[in-house]
Amino acid sequence: MEFEAHLPPFDDRLLGSVRDLAFLVWGEFDLDLQWRLSSMPNPMVLSASSSGHLLAFKCGYALTQTRYYSWLGAVHPDHRRQGLASRLTEMQHAWLAGRAYTAVETAADKDNTAMAALNLRHGFVPHGLRTEPQRIQILYAKQLP
Ligand SMILES: CC(C)(COP(=O)(O)OP(=O)(O)OC[C@H]1O[C@@H](n2cnc3c(N)ncnc32)[C@H](O)[C@@H]1OP(=O)(O)O)[C@@H](O)C(=O)NCCC(=O)NCCS
Repeated sequence: MEFEAHLPPFDDRLLGSVRDLAFLVWGEFDLDLQWRLSSMPNPMVLSASSSGHLLAFKCGYALTQTRYYSWLGAVHPDHRRQGLASRLTEMQHAWLAGRAYTAVETAADKDNTAMAALNLRHGFVPHGLRTEPQRIQILYAKQLP
């Protein structure tokens, strides 16, 4: 298994693999991946691959100089509960803590119990709800050392 942290400029092949995995996990939806990763500040993509195949990813970007948003992540359905999301989360938080970031934030749908368990396990604290027309999300934040 290969774990990597990617910074801009992002390789087209990496973005294509992220898109493919996102499509496998969520189906057709409006994934403004290219826009966010080229328009938002300090984007980063973390990946877990095996034999050149992307098995998991996590993307994020800065909200301010000190707050980072862990935006989107997924693990291939055949490779869940093997610690991949945990490993990418730890990599992301270590990378952020080594820089000027003092907090990482994320959001997950209210009924996403796997994500809730993962977030709580990695020190996120729920701090509010975001209500959108089609869904309600729990907002999480974690202070970084
Ligand atoms: C949520 C998700 C990323 C977890 O990935 P994963 O690699 O399976 O997670 P890990 O193996 O690192 O799990 C770490 C811990 O999270 C919790 N967890 C993970 N999946 C869980 C599940 N289905 N139910 C309950 N707890 C779960 C557990 O505490 C787990 O530790 P354990 O296996 O020792 O009990 C994965 O299920 C996924 O891709 N879901 C669909 C995409 C998604 O919802 N993304 C979030 C929106 S941005």
